[in-house]
Amino acid sequence: MIYLDNAATSFPKPEPVYQALDRFARTALANPGRAGHRMAVQAEGTLDQGRHLLNQFFRGEAPQRWIFTLNGTDALNLAIKGLVQPGDHVVTSDLEHNSVSRPLRALERAGVITLTRLESEAGYLDPAAVAKALRPETRLVVLTHAANVLGTVQPIEAIARIVRQADSLLLVDAAQTAGVVPIDLKTTPIDLLAFPGHKALYAPTGVGALYVGPRARPRPWREGGTGGDSSSEVQPEEYPYFLEGGTPNVLGVAGLIAGIDWVNEQGQETLRRHEIALLTRVVDWVEAEGAAIGWRIAGRWDPETHVAPLSLVPPEGLSPSDLGGILDSSFDIAVRPGLHCAPYIHRRLGTFPDGTIRLSPGPFNTPDHIDALLKALTEITAGVV
Ligand SMILES: Cc1ncc(COP(=O)(O)O)c(C=O)c1O
Repeated sequence: MIYLDNAATSFPKPEPVYQALDRFARTALANPGRAGHRMAVQAEGTLDQGRHLLNQFFRGEAPQRWIFTLNGTDALNLAIKGLVQPGDHVVTSDLEHNSVSRPLRALERAGVITLTRLESEAGYLDPAAVAKALRPETRLVVLTHAANVLGTVQPIEAIARIVRQADSLLLVDAAQTAGVVPIDLKTTPIDLLAFPGHKALYAPTGVGALYVGPRARPRPWREGGTGGDSSSEVQPEEYPYFLEGGTPNVLGVAGLIAGIDWVNEQGQETLRRHEIALLTRVVDWVEAEGAAIGWRIAGRWDPETHVAPLSLVPPEGLSPSDLGGILDSSFDIAVRPGLHCAPYIHRRLGTFPDGTIRLSPGPFNTPDHIDALLKALTEITAGVV
């Protein structure tokens, strides 16, 4: 199969990730515990190693500020639900994934918060619009670093400075950028950073992380065992245990460590450039041939501020879901049709409710894969339109 759905989850993983998972599962997959037997201590050591690596990779304040979560959704919910209080105002955008939009909308509907949803322009947010939306009661600004439908990377440095100046907290959803766009927490005033491990950090599914900077103190999302001091009646106050209850996905963290090591070896910009080179073939095809038969690109294409997802709007009469099915069953090509868990941006782009065809190449795709896709799109269009 030609897999072009890396924005959903990366596949295949780099070989060292498979090796690390196999090795760890066979030799060290104990329940991590600081006071336990040697294998438990080894598993705990893997969690520590993972936190140190994340802290180096994103240049955070301290390893213990990295909280392991189940996925991106879990990290975002922990931050959002742990921070807002009745009467707060929250700013977000129409580019967000449902893992941001749904918890915020539910809090708004329950009368807990008021919400401002900023409108993007061709897939990009204007920092001036963020500045205008901030109020004295704005506790939190929740924005994606790159739109999962369009691949457009937002001007997060400028936005972060504006939010910090207003003394609000900034939560960044880095699901589509962690591993391809360097994020430097020392120079960019981001308070909370959430991402899954299973996309461009090449971990298996089931692990993610939330960075909690010193200005934020979310309430625990779940309380329980921490593998250490069991005498306290309530969750221990110190990080990471304050925000981590229950047996963590230590196997996933072993995979995440191998994934980040691999990304470091390749270089984030090299990985992003590879994806952009592949997408450029698609953009060139749309311009040279596709547009004439009704295809267009959603959002603005700027190779300097883009990551792998690219959405194509098919010609009228050709539904994205049918196209996705035909590509899968007749051409052995995996893409993602539909709304991509992000309905607001599709409404904004006029592609609601059918959505688009989202392509997201990864490091193991080749120009031949893209050429096979473009040939398939040409053939399908010729047969139907
Ligand atoms: C921008 C964005 N945010 C959040 C998520 C949610 O991540 P997860 O599926 O790991 O919970 C995704 C996943 O597709 C995403 O693309």
